[in-house]
Amino acid sequence: MKGKKLAVVGVGKLGEALISGLLKQGDLKSSDIVGSVGQESSIARLKERLGIEGSLDNRYVVKDKDIVLLAVKPQNMDAVLSEITDVLTPDQLVVSVAASVTTRFVQERLKEAVPVVRAMPNTPSIINAGMTGLCVGLHAKEDHKKMAEAIFKCVGETVFVDESLMDGVTALSASGPAYLYVIIESLAEAGVKLGIPREVSTLLAAQTMYGASRMVLESKAHPALLKDSVTTPAGCTIDGLMELEEGKLRVTLVKAVVKAAERARELVNTQNARKQ
Ligand SMILES: NC(=O)c1ccc[n+]([C@@H]2O[C@H](COP(=O)([O-])OP(=O)(O)OC[C@H]3O[C@@H](n4cnc5c(N)ncnc54)[C@H](OP(=O)(O)O)[C@@H]3O)[C@@H](O)[C@H]2O)c1
Repeated sequence: MKGKKLAVVGVGKLGEALISGLLKQGDLKSSDIVGSVGQESSIARLKERLGIEGSLDNRYVVKDKDIVLLAVKPQNMDAVLSEITDVLTPDQLVVSVAASVTTRFVQERLKEAVPVVRAMPNTPSIINAGMTGLCVGLHAKEDHKKMAEAIFKCVGETVFVDESLMDGVTALSASGPAYLYVIIESLAEAGVKLGIPREVSTLLAAQTMYGASRMVLESKAHPALLKDSVTTPAGCTIDGLMELEEGKLRVTLVKAVVKAAERARELVNTQNARKQ
């Protein structure tokens, strides 16, 4: 990323998190980044919070930059792409984070064979604990993948998948924090039921979730083996696990992710239909 110039079209919550991550990481300086917003009143925010130049003019922001990160809402993508297509060239890389917007959708809006990478980050990116799924479009090569990966590595972990799996990534890691918040909330509620103050109970639940996640990531052991290591014969945990099985926690989580993926697919089709 060193020496590259970056344009961020639509510096909202996610755009801001990514720019902060890149600046902290140190490869880019604030003078290497220009951002655009939708309203005049938002320009000052870019200078104050990120120290970068802001503009309402997407064409100006995008022109001659090495990487163009599109971080507007999916419903604004069509208009933004039509606006910038004349100033984009195949020497630039377009990275889109717009949910349910395919690389094909982006490519078909661009006049030239510009390389495109699609990314699906999640909200923990804001605290550098993000998980981003990435996939490549038709014209993207290995060095484009590396550049796109470097952006999201600044705010967490990354993985490349085939684009056909992006609905699954959306349903699992992008929607996933919502499911896990419900689990934390429910565990905390259980603590309250057992007389533990809510604040303490929430800490116990959240730190336990964090610790369990780190055990999976750092030990690389199968989660079932880690579960077994907590489960003493005739102990307390097995009784708790039996309740979870009876309540169909596993199948409920599987069905939740599958349902969310179906919805993500519907949204992709809606975006594509809007184009025609
Ligand atoms: N938030 C996440 O964790 C997350 C995760 C995965 C993917 N995404 C994707 O990231 C994108 C942005 O999400 P967000 O949560 O960051 O939304 P957001 O906070 O609403 O940011 C969107 C930004 O776009 C700006 N904007 C609107 N119209 C514009 C235009 N025509 N030209 C340039 N800028 C324009 C807005 O400017 P004003 O502030 O002036 O209105 C706003 O700052 C979405 O496509 C979303 O699907 C987000």
